[in-house]
Amino acid sequence: MADAASSTAGRRVRASDDVEVSTYLGIAKERSAPQVDRPVVTKVHDEAIVVVDFGSQYSRLIARRVRECHVYCEIIPHDAPLESLKHLTIKGVILSGGPASVYEADAPLIHPSILASGLPILGICYGMQALAHQLGGQVTPGAHREYGHAVLHQNTPDHPLFHGLPPSLPVWMSHGDHVATAPPGFRSLGYTENSPIAVMGNDKGVLGLQFHPEVVHTPAGKTIIENFLYKVCGCHGTWTPGNFIAENTQEVRQRVGDGRVLCALSGGVDSAVVATLVHKAVGDQLTCIFVNNGLLRREEPERVLKTFRARNDLNLAYVDATEEFLGNLRGVTDPEEKRKIIGRTFINVFEREAIRLGQVDFLAQGTLYPDVIESKTSESKASSKIKTHHNVGGLPEVMKLQLIEPLRYLFKDEVREVGIALGLPEEMVYRQPFPGPGLAIRIIGEVTAEKLEVLRAADWVVMDEIKAAGLYRQLWQSFAVLTDSRSVGVMGDFRTYGNVIAIRAVTSEDAMTADWARLPHDVLARISSRIVNEVPQVNRVVYDITSKPPGTIEWE
Ligand code: XMP
Repeated sequence: MADAASSTAGRRVRASDDVEVSTYLGIAKERSAPQVDRPVVTKVHDEAIVVVDFGSQYSRLIARRVRECHVYCEIIPHDAPLESLKHLTIKGVILSGGPASVYEADAPLIHPSILASGLPILGICYGMQALAHQLGGQVTPGAHREYGHAVLHQNTPDHPLFHGLPPSLPVWMSHGDHVATAPPGFRSLGYTENSPIAVMGNDKGVLGLQFHPEVVHTPAGKTIIENFLYKVCGCHGTWTPGNFIAENTQEVRQRVGDGRVLCALSGGVDSAVVATLVHKAVGDQLTCIFVNNGLLRREEPERVLKTFRARNDLNLAYVDATEEFLGNLRGVTDPEEKRKIIGRTFINVFEREAIRLGQVDFLAQGTLYPDVIESKTSESKASSKIKTHHNVGGLPEVMKLQLIEPLRYLFKDEVREVGIALGLPEEMVYRQPFPGPGLAIRIIGEVTAEKLEVLRAADWVVMDEIKAAGLYRQLWQSFAVLTDSRSVGVMGDFRTYGNVIAIRAVTSEDAMTADWARLPHDVLARISSRIVNEVPQVNRVVYDITSKPPGTIEWE
């Protein structure tokens, strides 16, 4: 998974659906080091959990589960000291699983600052084994690799970790090694058929779970995590959209002072939430720019303008740069080249507008937490990202703007909750992500005005039918792709030779991985028949059944 993701990291792995202006402007490149460690919004929240990443595919899932319990958390790499999180009031630490074995020479260790902190700790799988190993217990390779369902039997049913749960419960295991001897001061709190110490703990709130509470296959997992947060760490659950909005508007107001802020609106949920939040904080010191690049879906520019113009108090500049974008894309077929041209054109338009508007000090944009983790957890990924960005458009004057990224600690679903709490319309908040380069990366080959119209018409049908079937919100994305293939067909008594449209629909948690959606056949049938009937240039429809990895969500 990591390989497939990193190979595309530079240009595509983004969970947010907005055009990131600073990305195109090269700001992220210039300031990547301080931004990664020094949050733009300094005080995040008054109670937090730290998730230490030992390389598990589930680290992010753990963080999401903690947030779902209304407790703020951040993920750090295993070798980062706790002192690097001075902006947080840490209430406890969760150690993730990971692929290593503790007795390997270069096995990752728990940072001494964590062990010395006196904070409650919950080690999960490898995290538990590392605790055992470093605190004087013994970890050995298990006789049987335990993978899948197991039944956990509690030794101490009144332990706070198991509050409200029955003495035996189904859990999900995935490990080879196991804790053979608990460290001094620890006792076994639960066992399974193959793991005599499946749960261990001491009386200082240091606990280990051999199983994975974060996955849905452990039905009581959320309760166990919740018990750790509330009953062991003493959290109060103050991470709510309301508190987030209150804290962040205050923070933005303080930072901006009497400066002026610019925000690029794309019509996606991230930029809409950022604009609304910043507007709440600084009112008409904010100006939003909506650039129509001619690569948007049918009725999209009108819809965005209508939504934001309905708010009379928002300064909104609209630029129709369709001709400029399509002109620059003429004759271009290479996907990477298309992206770069779009990025460059975007900078030019944006820069012109910024200059026209006069003095601006800040740029607000919708970077999300998965983007931050992505650059934080892998230097190599970050550097490949930088290279692509550097190639996009040089380093213009606008770079002098300081960034405001109020969403850089949020997952997508949290952004949506904040959007609802801010009073944004549901149809905007629950929109599926749409890529910055727009329909250009869904048209294989050269992008032309005619092809855009064909794709818009087909895409409209997909959206219409997906919504009619009540599937829109269940899918991460669903859309049409105009392939460069043509095929022979027959309509009435006539031979046709038309375009092939591919339908793409995926489910995903954060776009890092995705599964092709098992759409009902009758929905696919309606989509196919309507497209072929309603879009004269198309005579064949195919369904993309590739997951990510190895495919990506977008075709280019
Ligand atoms: P891929 O195709 O890499 O896409 O699996 C992952 C997610 O990112 C979106 N995407 C983009 N979003 N600018 C964006 O704002 C981009 O250049 C871009 N490329 C891909 C894609 O729609 C999916 O949600």
